[in-house]
Amino acid sequence: MTAWDPALYARFEAERSQPFYDLAALVRARAGMAVIDLGCGSGELTAWLHRGLEAASTLGIDSSEAMLGRARAQAESGLTFEAGDINRLESEPWGRRQYDLVFSNAALQWVTDHERLFPSLRSLVAPGGQLAVQMPANEGHISHVTAMDLAREEPYASALEGYERPLTVLSPVRYAELLHTLGFEEQSVRLQIYPHLLPGPESVVEWVSGTFLTAFRSRLSPELYAAFLEEYGRRLIAALGPARPYLYTYPRVLIWGRLAAG
Ligand SMILES: C[S@@+](CC[C@H](N)C(=O)[O-])C[C@H]1O[C@@H](n2cnc3c(N)ncnc32)[C@H](O)[C@@H]1O
Repeated sequence: MTAWDPALYARFEAERSQPFYDLAALVRARAGMAVIDLGCGSGELTAWLHRGLEAASTLGIDSSEAMLGRARAQAESGLTFEAGDINRLESEPWGRRQYDLVFSNAALQWVTDHERLFPSLRSLVAPGGQLAVQMPANEGHISHVTAMDLAREEPYASALEGYERPLTVLSPVRYAELLHTLGFEEQSVRLQIYPHLLPGPESVVEWVSGTFLTAFRSRLSPELYAAFLEEYGRRLIAALGPARPYLYTYPRVLIWGRLAAG
């Protein structure tokens, strides 16, 4: 089930890319790296990473055919893209190999149970290799709370069969503990607030519809999703007030760790 729309997601490209560049800046380049990018999306940033690191190989993984359709157009020497589900990485062929860099930008918030996920990610990292993960931590913002409240109301609750977007992202402190427990010799974990100055509150609706709301879009009929989006927009714009431009504050957690060489 997927409702990713590459064009809608690209609408705030500059704002969405900055955390990626901040995450990439944490990575220590080494000659001839094997890289995997989990939840690579439309692949432009994966290609940037591949070239910037002068990696020997970079594999982009995504579960959305719409996103992969665009990503495959980026393929070049050493850079490939495959369909795959991070939720089931142990049973995927690429999930049984090891990489010098396991990278994931703005994707792992879609995967539940990080207490289980991070040990699985650790198993993908080769000795001396690195893990670099960025995830939004904005679930407490009114833009997300409004969507979750609406999803609990009828007719959406029945159509969603009780589905609630799970809260997946742990505290930064917990990720630091997990990296330590999993044997990462060096680490950096930080929460960073990205201030996005958007034209007005309606831009927040557009932003959220390109990411957070995809989970509802994929579970509702087109008609019901259209009604959901309209009501969500009405409530959110009322709640955000008339400020123009509107400052959309966006906390994100950036996680980096390096294992000891074998
Ligand atoms: C917000 S986009 C980020 C894309 C890209 N990493 C970037 O920085 O622009 C999240 C991506 O994660 C993918 N994704 C979500 N859950 C996934 C899963 N379980 N397995 C693989 N990909 C997943 C989505 O299809 C989507 O392309």
